[in-house]
Amino acid sequence: MTPSQIELVQDSFAKVAPISDQVAVIFYDRLFEVAPSVRGLFPDDLTEQRKKLMGTLAVVVNGLSNLEAVLPAASALAKRHVNYGAMAEHYPVVGAALLWTLEKGLGDAWTPEVAAAWIAAYGTLSGYMIAEAYGSAEAAE
Ligand code: HEM
Repeated sequence: MTPSQIELVQDSFAKVAPISDQVAVIFYDRLFEVAPSVRGLFPDDLTEQRKKLMGTLAVVVNGLSNLEAVLPAASALAKRHVNYGAMAEHYPVVGAALLWTLEKGLGDAWTPEVAAAWIAAYGTLSGYMIAEAYGSAEAAE
């Protein structure tokens, strides 16, 4: 990610921060619409889940300019997700639902540059989490 992409992600996330509860509601609605099979992995009541997701996203977004600092937490998060039943192939689905949600939340502020910056950010994070949780063929001995 370039420094200007990091800035775009941070600035756009700041714009939806005041409506983060709605963002989380829209995100899970969208996720379960496109991937109904993952609904059963989550608790029935998503109230706490919504807060945790948005809180973690805020930490990661703020940490983009100093990625090394957030990687240990991202690794631990990824490993916990194995126990939640998350699979590597779920990550792109979650990413698509997240981007779709941000697009709705940001309206006109969702420009092609902002979209590209978020794609880079989610790609970096999810690529790292997948590698940490599921490893490469060599690592999985
Ligand atoms: C970058 C991507 C993701 C982030 C930032 C994220 C964030 C979180 C956070 C903060 C929690 C709260 C629990 C904890 O901290 O351990 C959580 C729980 C959970 N996540 Fe994710 N997640 C991501 C990707 C995924 C994916 C790809 C799936 C697959 C369907 C998934 C499914 C779940 C489930 C099932 C739970 C827990 C349910 C329970 O409490 O039993 N997440 N996630």
